[in-house]
Amino acid sequence: MLSNPAGDEKRTSLHGHWSSRMAFILAVTGSAVGLGNIWKFPYIAGQNGGGAFVLVYLVCVIVIGMPVMMSEILIGRRGRRNPIATMELLGKEEGSSGNWRLVGSMGVLAGILILSYYSVIAGWTLAYVLKSATGVFAGASAEAVGAEFGGFVGNWKAIGFYHTLFMALAIFVVARGVERGLEQAVRFMVPALLVLMLVLLGYSISSGYFGQGVAFMFTPDFDKLTWDSVLAALGQAFFTLSIGMGAIMAYGAYLPEETSITGASAAVVTADTAIAILAGLAIFPLVFANGLDPADGPGLVFQTLPLAFGQMPGGVFFSTIFFVLLAFAAWTSAIGLMEPAVAWIVEHYNRTRAQATVFIGVLIWAIGFGTVLSFNVLADTTFLAGTVFDNIDYLTSNIMLPLGGLLITIFAGWVMCRNSTSDELGSAGSLYKAWRLLARFVAPIGILFVLINAVT
Ligand code: PFF
Repeated sequence: MLSNPAGDEKRTSLHGHWSSRMAFILAVTGSAVGLGNIWKFPYIAGQNGGGAFVLVYLVCVIVIGMPVMMSEILIGRRGRRNPIATMELLGKEEGSSGNWRLVGSMGVLAGILILSYYSVIAGWTLAYVLKSATGVFAGASAEAVGAEFGGFVGNWKAIGFYHTLFMALAIFVVARGVERGLEQAVRFMVPALLVLMLVLLGYSISSGYFGQGVAFMFTPDFDKLTWDSVLAALGQAFFTLSIGMGAIMAYGAYLPEETSITGASAAVVTADTAIAILAGLAIFPLVFANGLDPADGPGLVFQTLPLAFGQMPGGVFFSTIFFVLLAFAAWTSAIGLMEPAVAWIVEHYNRTRAQATVFIGVLIWAIGFGTVLSFNVLADTTFLAGTVFDNIDYLTSNIMLPLGGLLITIFAGWVMCRNSTSDELGSAGSLYKAWRLLARFVAPIGILFVLINAVT
């Protein structure tokens, strides 16, 4: 642990530093790659008509996601504290106001709300490890796989149990201070996940419906594009990259001075996008081959992939490994979701990491029952965006994260002086100019435009 002498030119973080550039990239990749890529991206793309949505999503990732991620990392590294304290400190230091801390507070809240449902879905993947390993899906028909899913999520005690198990795992790792062990896990997990996605892709290609899947994903039909789906694409870009809520800012706080922020961001964005696209390419052909509905919603992955595994040679093995990897990917993301809240409690209330984690973890676990019940007892209780789960998801991905991103780019682009940002980004060359153009104009105007059009 390092001390933090106030007023020191180069600050250090209270929580220690990453051991290397690679360690940071692995941690951020671990946070970015998760259920958002494999569970959420295909079903949201399906619900929003495919092609045009995917195109808007890709544009959002590049022109908004990339500059927001760079802004978050540079702010985090400059402040070297939890996101709330960092925003307050830099707000004052740059001659604006300490109230910028509210951006950090909104991020802490977003992390808590997102993890409350993320943990429930991650629990499904844990259950699917067991179901796969015991051969439940071997040779099963589409109807049988669908009925298995329906029966499982319809039982609140079952999904409540796995939600509890997943939160316990997340609390365990975060409480112990973690990052070290997980860096190693990510190093193995992301490549293994890529390999398994390729196996699935191979199966998808052999399904005879690959062309239809590709056409669905990449042929834009702009008639289907509403402002709502543009907002969903923007929200998905934020969610999948873990940006807009201070998680990446919290990780940036532990980043060594000499690491290139641009290079690290580009690596993470590329890996994350590649995995999402591969997931779509593996899933949509299966959807069409089996006469399923691409707009089926949150169960899509759980109804297509087990079906494919059930029919391929070695399926029990591949399916088990796949859900283990997905659970791991969710685990490394859950840590990012808790980090801002935990770091804040540790610093602000002077608690141990273990105390802070248990407190936040139990709170998140309890809120999670709103989502657990959304798939059974309260499935018909809908308001505003739908069930409790739909509302938490809409509020966080489509409102809080983009709003957080908007304020973060305004802060980095307009409030921080040129010297501060070029100091962190390490140059005044054309890359820096491109970032500044995106962070000052393109990203904030783009986010605002989409938010206003979709919400009004
Ligand atoms: N990016 C993660 C995913 O795609 O599954 C979700 C996430 C993790 C969002 C961490 C935000 C975060 F801080």
